[in-house]
This record gives sequence, C-alpha cells and structure tokens, in this order.
Amino acid sequence: MLETIRWLPRDDNPLPGKVRMIDQTQLPERCVFLETDDLEEVYDAIKRLVVRGAPAIGIAAAFGLVASVQHLDGNRDELLAAIQASADRLAAARPTAVNLAWALERCLDAGRDHAATPGATADGLKLRLWQEADAILREDIEMCRRIGEFGVELFAKNTRVLTHCNAGALATGDFGTALSPVYAAFERGLSPHVYSNETRPLLQGSRLTAWELQRAGVGVTSICDNMAGQLMREQRIDVVIVGADRVAANGDAANKIGTYSVAVLAQYHQVPFYVAVPYSTIDMSIPDGDGIPIEQRAPEEVSCGFGQRTVPEGVGIYNPAFDVTPNELIAGIITEQGILWPPYVKSIAGLFE
Ligand code: MRU
Repeated sequence: MLETIRWLPRDDNPLPGKVRMIDQTQLPERCVFLETDDLEEVYDAIKRLVVRGAPAIGIAAAFGLVASVQHLDGNRDELLAAIQASADRLAAARPTAVNLAWALERCLDAGRDHAATPGATADGLKLRLWQEADAILREDIEMCRRIGEFGVELFAKNTRVLTHCNAGALATGDFGTALSPVYAAFERGLSPHVYSNETRPLLQGSRLTAWELQRAGVGVTSICDNMAGQLMREQRIDVVIVGADRVAANGDAANKIGTYSVAVLAQYHQVPFYVAVPYSTIDMSIPDGDGIPIEQRAPEEVSCGFGQRTVPEGVGIYNPAFDVTPNELIAGIITEQGILWPPYVKSIAGLFE
C-alpha cells in the first residue's frame, strides 16, 4: 500500500525525525515526497493540499506538531505553551475536516497529561507527543482495514462503484475509507470496477483516485462530474461510496463539493449511497450538517486551475470546497465498527457508547 504519510527518524530513535508525505499536487505526473520538520511548511502542505483527505491531514498535523517542537528548549511550561501555539497554527490550515483538530487535541491532551506526571522532563514530553502521533497513524491503518472488512459485504462479483473525490490510500494512513471496501473486494477476486468522478476544481478523482486504483490493478474509469447522472440512467452504477470530512451527530455528512449532487442523483435512480468514515470523522458536538464549517478556497482554483484560464477575468467566482449531504439520502455509514443504518441519531450515539 502507499505510504502517503509517515514519520522518518534520523537514526534508530524515533526523535529527532521529519514528517514525510507524498506531494499530491504533483500527481499523477510524478510521485515525489516532501520531507520537513518545519511548522510553516507543514501548515502550507495542508493548506495547499500537498497532503489532503480528512484522516491524512490529521496524521500530518500530529507528526508536524512533533517535528516542529522537537528542537525547542525550555522548561515544561514553556514547552507546553509552544506546543499549544504550534497546534493552533496547524488547526487553522483547513476548517472542515474534523480529523485535523481531533488529532491535534489528542496530542495536546497526551502532552498535558505527561507534563503533569511527577518527574516529567522536556525530552519525555516530546517523546510522549510522538507516541501519540504514531498511535493515531497505527489506529488509522487498523480502522481503514476494518472499514474494508465491513464494506466488502456490499460487493458481489463485478460490482460497479461510483466515487467522488479521493477517499483512498492517498487520503489516509492505509487503504482509505471509501476505497477500502473496493480494495477488499479486489483482494477477494470479486473484480470491482470504480467510476471515478473527476472532482472539479482540483481533480482529486481523476488525478488521485484513478492513479492509486490503476497502480493497484483495480479497474477504474474516469468520468467528468456532469456524467454521473447519465451513467446511473444507463444502469452502469450499482452503488455509490464516498468518504467524508465531518459527519454530524444526525448523520449529515460533509464531503468534497459535488457529493450532494451525486447523492440526489443516486436517490432518483435508486442507487444506494454509502458514506465510509472512521469514528474520528464523526463530530458529536455538531447536531446536524448546518453547523459544519465549509471551507472557501481561492477563486483561481476555478478560474485558472492548473495554469489555464477558463473564466474571463473579472467574472465573480464562488468556490466552496465541501457540501453537506443530508442523512435521508444516505443508505448506510460504513465504519470500523460495522455499517450504521438509519435512524443515525440512534446508531451513531450507539457507536460512541
Ligand atoms: O479537499 P480534499 O481533497 O482534502 O477533500 C477530501 C475529501 O473530500 C475526501 O472525500 C474526504 O476527506 C474523505 S478522506 C478519507
């Protein structure tokens, strides 16, 4: 599997080290890595989508936090204040994916707990932070695999899946969320085929999903976003599976802009629409999708994407990066604990008990 995001120690000890990530802005042309221990470089990598996808940005932020404080001097209190400031900076990079704030908060909690233990040292605190970041990565790998195990139940021989954006290995520590059941079906010889929406404006579907599936040997066809309805009408899609950046307590799910349109189309054509997420993507503090913050991105992504002007200068641009699919359009939510069914208020609450 792809090592989208990893910690790279300098020697046999975990610290010091750097965070290493595939530079996804270069795909599909080149698979190159960015290695850094610089806070601003990690912030920039998350902001520019060098690393993207909800779980992956959480892992990147956690390791980025460790990397950025590992060389700091100072007593415990000074160190804790510096860790908090770095975490605040990283958390501001992108607002919608809850995994970012969740992973940073986990590291901060671990750091604070450690600092409160008698005899805690600055080096011990840094190591404790790294251990938490490493645990987040390991748990994510495990969660991806389990989502695959549960999601594969939806597959028969030659199942045709439509997905939107990239919720695969490039968006997580391992097999992905939405693509994990696809990889599991592929491993079992079920020959799944994925139709990948290109995902305007940044083309995560055609640049990333198509790239990673082709690399793994899974059948994939890239389509423009506006073709999904026609494919469903031609009965070429058996199931839709997408990831999410944040799921509210009632099951409303924010995912890449365009997901909502796919869900509406799927309902009209009676194609089941599933969302695949680990528990870290569910935000129990938000009762419904109206409370999910939606990232607004630069107009140039729409008007001048990849260096080619496609909108006349001076024309207004609206560029929300995500939309919210209401829970009534979602057939099931595939998690690492099993598939959740409506009513989601009840099944999601059960997951957290
Ligand atoms: O803007 P991006 O590329 O970070 O958006 C990513 C998505 O919308 C994914 O579908 C989502 O994060 C799920 S990742 C397992």
